[in-house]
Amino acid sequence: MLLAGRHILLGVTGSIAAYKAAMLVRLLVKAGAEVRVVMTEAARDFITPLTLATLCKHPVLVDNFDPTNGAWNSHVSLGEWADHYLIAPATANTLAKMASGMADNLLLCSYLSARCPVSVAPAMDLDMYRHAATRHNLEILHNHYGVNIIEPRDGELASGLVGKGRMAEPEEIVDYLTRAFAGEKEGALAGRRILVTAGATVEPIDPVRFVSNYSTGKMGYALAEALADRGAEVTLVTGQATARLAGRYPNLTTVRALSAAEMYEACERLFPAMDGAVFCAAVADYTPARPMGEKYKHDPAQPFLLELKPTVDIAAAMGRIKRTDGAGRQVTIGFALETAPTGAEGQGMAYAREKLEKKNLDAIVLNSLSDVGAGFGTDTNKVAILDREAAIELPLKSKREVAEDIADYMTRKFAQLC
Ligand code: C5P
Repeated sequence: MLLAGRHILLGVTGSIAAYKAAMLVRLLVKAGAEVRVVMTEAARDFITPLTLATLCKHPVLVDNFDPTNGAWNSHVSLGEWADHYLIAPATANTLAKMASGMADNLLLCSYLSARCPVSVAPAMDLDMYRHAATRHNLEILHNHYGVNIIEPRDGELASGLVGKGRMAEPEEIVDYLTRAFAGEKEGALAGRRILVTAGATVEPIDPVRFVSNYSTGKMGYALAEALADRGAEVTLVTGQATARLAGRYPNLTTVRALSAAEMYEACERLFPAMDGAVFCAAVADYTPARPMGEKYKHDPAQPFLLELKPTVDIAAAMGRIKRTDGAGRQVTIGFALETAPTGAEGQGMAYAREKLEKKNLDAIVLNSLSDVGAGFGTDTNKVAILDREAAIELPLKSKREVAEDIADYMTRKFAQLC
C-alpha cells in the first residue's frame, strides 16, 4: 500500500537479468505504483521495449529523442516526475558511468537530473562484481552520491559460474522499495500537533435512553494511528466507538467526549494549540432540548414527542477561529457522508464542496453509503479527497489504507507551509 500512487522510474541496462524487469514492472504496477521505463540500447538486446511498455502502459524511452520525428524525450521531466529512480539491472558499465558523471544516454541523463532517491540493483558476473574498479564505483555512488545499493545475491550466474552477482529477485526489490517509502514517512509529521475527532456522539434523552448514529469510529481511529505513526502528537477526541487502537502510542492521547456539547467543549479547549485537525466524528446535528433527569415513565396510551435542538457544528466553529496565515497556519480536514455516490462530479461532490467552504476546511473527504464497502462499521471505505484545486477519487481500500492516504495528504499540506 506504500507504493500506491508512487511514481517509479525504472532504468533497465544490458544484462541478462533484464528479463526480470518484466516481472518487476508487473509487481510494481500491481502494488499500485505508476511506472515509466527508460532503457539503454544494450538492454534492448535482452528484452523488448514493447514487453515493458505493455506492462507499464506507457511508451518505453531509449533515445534522447524520437528518431522518427525528432520529438525530445526530456530527461529533466522524467527526473522531476519520479518519486524514486530504480536502476535494475544495473551493469558494471552503467555503474561506472554513473560514478563518473557520464551522460551519454537517456538513462544516465535521467540519473543526473533526478531529484528523488536513486537505487541500483547490480547484476554481473562474480569477477566483474568483485573487481576493485566496480567496488570503487559502488563506494562512490553510495558514500558520495547517496545512491542505495540493492546487493546482488549469491547463486548460479549466466556464465555458469557460481558466486555473488545475481540481481536481487523482483519480489526482494519491491520489498526494498516499500521499506524505503516507509522510512520516508517515518517522522514526516514529527512535532505537529493534530486533533482527530472520531466515533458517534450520544445525546441523552433521559439517564437510560439516547439519540445516536451507527458510527463505529473505525475510520477516525485508523487515522489517529496513521498520523501517530508519522510522529505527530495526536489528540483523539472520541465519542462512542467500538473501534480500538491497534497499537500503543506514547504520542497519542485519548479524550472521551460523549455528547456533541462535550465534544465541542473539548475541541474548543484543544484546537488553538493544534497545528491541524481532522473532524471525523459523526456528531449529532440535534440533541434533546430538555434531557430528563429521571427515567421517563412511558405511557402506552400517549405518543411520545421529543423536541430536539441543533448542536454546535464543531468543524464550522473551529473553522471560524482557525489561524489561516503564516507559519502557524492550521490545516483542517472534514468528512462528508452522503447517500449520493462519490463518483464523478455528482451531487455528493457538490454537497461536499459546500461543506468545504461553510466549515472553512482545507480539504474534505467524501464518502457515500451507496458505494459498496463504504460507510459505517465496514473495514473498507471508498472516498474522494476534495480541496479547492482538485478531487482525488480513490478506489475501495481498507480504512487503514484510506487513513494513510489522508495522512499523506496532510503531510503534503504541512510541507507546503514550510
Ligand atoms: O454537515 P455535516 O454534518 O455533513 O458535516 C460533516 C463534517 O462536519 C464532519 O467532518 C463532522 O465531523 C463535522 N461536524 C462537526 N460538528 C457537527 C456536525 C458535523 O464537527 N455538529
